[in-house]
Amino acid sequence: MIRAPHPMLDGLNTPASRALLESLMTDPLLAPENLEWRERAREVADKYVRPVAWKYDRLQEYPWEVQEQLKAYGLYKVFVDKEYGGAGCSVLNLCLVVEELAKACGGIGVGFAVNALGSFPIMIGGTDEQKERFLPEVAAGNHLVAFGLSEKNAGSDAGGMACSAVKDGDQWVLNGHKKWNTNGAIAHVNTIFAVTDPESRSRRISAFVVQRPGSGEELGDIEGFRIAKVEDKMGIRAIPVVELEFDNLRLDSDRLIGGRPGVGFKHAMMTLDKARPGVAAQAVGCAQGALDLALVYATNRVQFGQPIASKQMVQQLLADGAQKVAAARQLVHAAARHVDAGTKEANKYAAMAKCFATDVAMEVTTDAVQIFGGYGFMRDYPVEKYMRDAKITQIYEGTNQVQRLVIARNLIKEASKLDHLSHYMPIPEDQR
Ligand code: CAA
Repeated sequence: MIRAPHPMLDGLNTPASRALLESLMTDPLLAPENLEWRERAREVADKYVRPVAWKYDRLQEYPWEVQEQLKAYGLYKVFVDKEYGGAGCSVLNLCLVVEELAKACGGIGVGFAVNALGSFPIMIGGTDEQKERFLPEVAAGNHLVAFGLSEKNAGSDAGGMACSAVKDGDQWVLNGHKKWNTNGAIAHVNTIFAVTDPESRSRRISAFVVQRPGSGEELGDIEGFRIAKVEDKMGIRAIPVVELEFDNLRLDSDRLIGGRPGVGFKHAMMTLDKARPGVAAQAVGCAQGALDLALVYATNRVQFGQPIASKQMVQQLLADGAQKVAAARQLVHAAARHVDAGTKEANKYAAMAKCFATDVAMEVTTDAVQIFGGYGFMRDYPVEKYMRDAKITQIYEGTNQVQRLVIARNLIKEASKLDHLSHYMPIPEDQR
């Protein structure tokens, strides 16, 4: 049986708590357009996501009722270019929307964000005809999109994939599998990466659009495309993560993204630069959502004759959490601005935001459970879900170990800008 959240959480609805939470959310650095997207997403989150978050977590089913609202509020437009029915792709606005959704449910947050991840390869590398054909339905919220890069033996080493596509006349024949495909079972459009030139080092991989007929709950099967496994997960349980299997799946040549083979890996990396701030925003949402609950609990829970919020050790957990979330949010916004402006530092900032915000999410959600004490450990209350939802953010869209590798590679490249400091080093003159 699904239990409603504890009445204790009614505390979230008092005017004082609302005003406090509101003040914590103020951001004078955002433009009116950004605030508008945030408000729109917050309304969806408060009215339609939070009330059903725990139900779908228990059921481990996709929340089609929420999908209808995401569509009705036009949220899918936020990451699609204006020419194709979107509002103009702004990664900053995307991050604001994802944070609000994830504050109510981390699973629904990523279930939304992954549509941007799956669409970016088409937006980055697709032909005008491909953009025309696929993006307007995505912007309208009619077609969901998934992203197929990882495989059983190719997670962090994405370039080591084995799934192959071989040209046969006017068609490509796809064989192999994709692992940990978020939304793969319910997506009308799957962006799939496959090896098209096994001999090449730098032009080995290409990306394809694999479309299934129908949409929403009415998705049809296609020959050669099978959902081999639906994963049973620790968190983000409202969203299906699946294994896809391709067995001689025939694709017309116009499904090759960009119309030329060999640029898939580069486009996958560029896609991840654009999408990682979104996962980082999901993490900020999880952290803020858990912190909000912990704050309300701490101000209501009485022990030793006083609310536990009056205890310095609890105050430290709240204060550290608030600092970490605020710092993570600002780094996410900085990364989104670098990506939107197309700066040289976008790759480094996207990795830093993803790594920092997701580590923060794990720390803050764990501390929120700690503040709830024994109640926090129980599935009767929502706070433990935030901790479970947060864990995957340190793993997907590139583990935090990969993010650190990307950051360090950037730093090492940038080290030449610091040559003037070599005079202060114990380096012989002729080796400088
Ligand atoms: N932009 C453009 N090009 C890039 C690039 C970028 N950000 N990063 C790399 N490239 C190019 C390089 O310039 C290089 O090009 P040349 O061959 O022409 O020189 C080529 O790509 C190969 O680059 P590397 O040598 O750096 O590649 P690598 O094999 O060492 O891998 C890696 C680098 C960073 C570890 C990469 O494999 C990686 O990001 N791995 C993690 C994969 C990942 O994030 N998976 C997530 C799956 S999606 C998911 O999880 C979603 C979900 O469920 C929600």
